[in-house]
This record gives sequence, structure tokens and C-alpha cells, in this order.
Amino acid sequence: MPTHVHYGHIFHLAGSPRITEAVDALVSIPDGALVVGEDGTILFVGERSQLPDLYASARAHDHTGGYLLPGFVDTHIHFPQTYAGASYGGGQLLEWLTQCIFPSEAEFADPEFAADAALEFTRRRIAAGTTAAMVFGSAFPHAQDALFRTTLKAGLRIVSGRGIQTRGPDSAQPLITSEGDAIRLTRAEIEQWHAADTGDVSTALLHVAIVPRFSLAVTPETLRNLGELYDEFRDRGVYVHSHLNENDRPATGEVDTTKQDFHVNTYLDTYDGKFLPGSAVGGKSLLGRRTILAHCVHCQDVELARMAETGTSISHCPVSQLFLGSGTMPWKRTVASGVNISAGTDFGGGDEWLIPRVVGDAFKQHISEAGDDGVSIHPAEMLFLATLGGARALDMEDRFGNFDLGKEADFVVVQPAGALKGLLRNALRSQEAELAREQTLFALLMGIRESSVAEVYVQGNRVGI
Ligand code: GUN
Ligand code: ZN
Repeated sequence: MPTHVHYGHIFHLAGSPRITEAVDALVSIPDGALVVGEDGTILFVGERSQLPDLYASARAHDHTGGYLLPGFVDTHIHFPQTYAGASYGGGQLLEWLTQCIFPSEAEFADPEFAADAALEFTRRRIAAGTTAAMVFGSAFPHAQDALFRTTLKAGLRIVSGRGIQTRGPDSAQPLITSEGDAIRLTRAEIEQWHAADTGDVSTALLHVAIVPRFSLAVTPETLRNLGELYDEFRDRGVYVHSHLNENDRPATGEVDTTKQDFHVNTYLDTYDGKFLPGSAVGGKSLLGRRTILAHCVHCQDVELARMAETGTSISHCPVSQLFLGSGTMPWKRTVASGVNISAGTDFGGGDEWLIPRVVGDAFKQHISEAGDDGVSIHPAEMLFLATLGGARALDMEDRFGNFDLGKEADFVVVQPAGALKGLLRNALRSQEAELAREQTLFALLMGIRESSVAEVYVQGNRVGI
């Protein structure tokens, strides 16, 4: 690939800020240039007028009127729910799973159906500018094969693993395996797909995760066996993904049912090797810097502290939490705990594919928290959730997530279409430069729809299928 230079209005968060430092890390370059080298890494980011002569002959892409943002990172999305978004089930999480989701996911038993879904899923990701994702996988290995193959063909990044279930209601039966098969199939997926594209986790686009659906879908035996399996593969960059503290309906919701079922002090204990009654240790922990837990709406302080201590990240999914009536993750308390927070669509619990729609709903949800808990999230923090926080959650911040020199060039070209055009070209802006740029970034993140996502790049290559 020759050297390329992309011109447009650049926004990114430079360096390695925590979410609380995102405001100071915000970079806005209205007449910017991004140079991508032959190896797909970033050679220059800055003012177009400052472009070194060295790059004068680079292949130019003029996105004038457009914006260059780091690729969006979706840290929680369900592949086998590709067609299950906006499912009406007349209830919250556990009823919705039983009535709508388990039967929908069972359709992936048909290899042709699953292959079509892999194509649709990948197209929706590209349309949404999601360059990297933690994908909650199908129970069926052929469906996972189709997903990895299609993702690679498109040139996108993925971390995924088959959803593991060893118990559940009747409607989940097609998704449930024996204890032995749960481990055997997960091991086989790791061996087949983890870093399968390059043979090296530090350069791969494909990665595998160990994915127990949630504690109510697995037994203590499964959790013990998965702890052993993870211990074996931890050093090879394998991930862990699941749900935590999503629905807190008293007595019959997910959180209370889990605590009663395992007789544990906290839900997190079940993923931390302490899944025996009284939170006694029964196996190895699944927590760590390559573990992402979705939702975390109803965490106790000790759970947040333990996640922060172990480097475990949260995937915040407010679109889904609204859809399923799961409540509101307490923003200030969660941020104050120091845990890394990223953004997830949770499609089909969520009904949007676009990560900017997720951070837009995060803004609306947290400004609506009661009393002093209400907060107006800064647009730089929204950008953090959508990009750098996700790269950190995937433990690949050294590779992508912003436009620091030497990183792999994952980016989205936004060409404002429809209503976004007016929001960016004609809206009133402050006379004060700093506020004006924040207003522009806010309008951009709130107003992006798929129609404005013009081009998507991973490692400097345009993705498509
Ligand atoms: N908890 C266990 N499975 C699921 C799922 O498919 N979606 C959501 N939102 N929560 C879950
Ligand atoms: Zn989910």
C-alpha cells in the first residue's frame, strides 16, 4: 500500500487519558491531515498547512466538509441477535430472553441462516463505523466460523466467542451443551480462530473470548472449568466476556436470582472464582485486563473496586438499558471507582447499531439522574466512551483508539448528511473557541446516523464486503 494522506476535520483524544482526563486530551484540527504509511500506521497527524514535504506525493483523499474520527469500538454486541433487535416480549430481561431471544438464537442452528446473518451483521457494523468489537457469539460453531470468516474478508477487527450455556429454561435447550462440550467447543474455537489471520496476537485482527452467557446460564462446574481453561490461555491474549448486574427487579430479577442461586455476597464473585455458597473460592478468577462485563448497572462499591483493581472493563449499554427497563448505571459513582468504561450497543437488547447513538443516550440518561447525581457528560468523555475507552477495554490501546503516531490507522470518515449537515454548518456556535469546538463535537456525536458514515478504515485499508 502506498502512503496515503486524508484531509478533513480531525477529532481525537491524544495520549492515554482516563475518562476524567479526556477533556484535556481533546484534539480538534479543523483543516487537518492524517498520513497513513505503507504498513497502515499513522505517520503524521496535524494541520494540513504543516504537512511535511516528505508526504507531498502521498495519495490524497480530500474529505473537505467531512470529519475524521477514530473508528468506533463496540464492546458488547450480540451476533446471534442480528435479526432480534426490537423484539417485543412484554417483559424485562429474563422474560425477554426466554420468550424472544433464546428462540431467535436457536435459528442459527441452520448453517445457511447463520452465514446470511454473519454477512448482515458485518454489513451493519461497517455501516455504523464499528471498526473493533467484542462480539457475544452464537452457541453454534458453524455460525462462529461464518462470523470470523466474514469479518476477516471485510477487514474488520473482532473479539468473539461462542455463548456458553450449560443450563436454562426449555426455550434455551438448543443452545445448551454438556459440561464437557462447553469446554471442548470453547477450546476448539480458541485453537482455530485466536490470531488465526496473522498467527500473532500482537498483529491479529481476529481474537477469541471465553463467553459464559451470564451466571444463571452456567453451573458452578462450568465456572470452575472455564477458570481452568482461562488460566491455560490467559498468557496468549484470550479474552473473557459476560453480563453483570443488569436487571435488579426485586426477588425475581437477574441480580437477586443470581445471588440466591449461588448464595454469594456479590454477583461479581461468581466470575471471580468465588462462586460457592458464602462466596467461598471454588476456582480461578475470570477477571483481568482482557475481561469486559456488560451493563454493571447495579454494582455494589466492592464490585466496582474489584473490577478497577483487576483491570476489568465495563461495557456501558444505555440504549439497551432503556429498551429492557434495566435502570441507570450511576455515572458519577462508577467513574469515581476508577474502573474503565467503554460503550456497547448490546444489539439486540439495544435497538441501535451505532456507537454514537449509545453515547448520545448515555448523555440523556445521566443528565436525567436525580439531584446531585445528574451530570452533563462532556463531549470529550463521550468520544472517550466511543473510541479510546473501547480500545482500552479490548487491551489494544497500544494499537488503535486515537491518532497517536505509530498506531494502526483505524478511522471513520463522517460526511454530514441529512439533518446533521444543518447541525454542523448552520448552528449557532460560541464566540469562545474552546466551547465552540466542544459544541461541534457534541453535535457531531449526537447527530451521526448511518447515512453520514461515508468511509471506514482499519489499518489504513478501506473496509467493505
Ligand atoms: N443476559 C444474558 N443474556 C443476555 C442477552 O442476550 N442480552 C442481555 N441484554 N442481557 C443478557
Ligand atoms: Zn448483552
